[in-house]
Amino acid sequence: MDRKEDEKEAFDIPFAERKFLKETNSRFNKIILLTLPVLLISFYITGFRLTRNLKLSRVRNINFQNSNNHDHSILGHLPYNEISKEKLVFIEPNIHVHIDMSESLLKMREDAKKDGIGLIFLSGYRSINLQRNIFFSLKSIRNQIAAERARVSAPPGYSEHSTGFAIDIGDANNRETDFEIEFENTETFKWLKKNAAKYHFKLSFNRDNKNVDYEPWHWRYEGSIEALEVFEESNRKLINANN
Ligand code: DAL
Ligand code: ZN
Repeated sequence: MDRKEDEKEAFDIPFAERKFLKETNSRFNKIILLTLPVLLISFYITGFRLTRNLKLSRVRNINFQNSNNHDHSILGHLPYNEISKEKLVFIEPNIHVHIDMSESLLKMREDAKKDGIGLIFLSGYRSINLQRNIFFSLKSIRNQIAAERARVSAPPGYSEHSTGFAIDIGDANNRETDFEIEFENTETFKWLKKNAAKYHFKLSFNRDNKNVDYEPWHWRYEGSIEALEVFEESNRKLINANN
């Protein structure tokens, strides 16, 4: 082969290789150009979904916490329906109670008397209307805001008294202690503390209650299925708080 032939061959080969590289590059560029937007869109969508799911899970978490915290109470008082009139029985003037508890209540008073203890019934059933007057009219005279009033009186529709299953009790020999904390020092309170459970009565607002002031005079009856149903949410709260 002469020098010219050599040069020609040398020129042809590199030229052929460059052509191959050029074709590969352009195919690669095409693939990149086609796939890059798809990849970018996918990344964008995935990122958007992740952020949205994160936000949603936070909202769900807040709602879950709220539904967990929500126990239907207002200012620390649970809601109670008003007893139907047919279930109310007369005990004495101004004192009516649920028929389920009347017998037990009278027996408790009778047995206490045998022990030399005089139980006075101060307040039994109260209609939601009467509770409304107490909460919004009487207590407003004291210049108290709702949260302060609720420490001593339930809002209408939230009093155990409207169920007919609650009774306020005083001491016959110490009437000055009626509706007062000092009632707890009377013989009547001591007797009740020792014996009330035998008659299915329980103190509703003890010293541990965070929202409602201690009421040693206020007892509720839990001696029938209806009464237990009425106070189920309250008792469940108590059980949960103690666990
Ligand atoms: N004194 C109690 C809380 C009531 O009003 O029902
Ligand atoms: Zn009461």
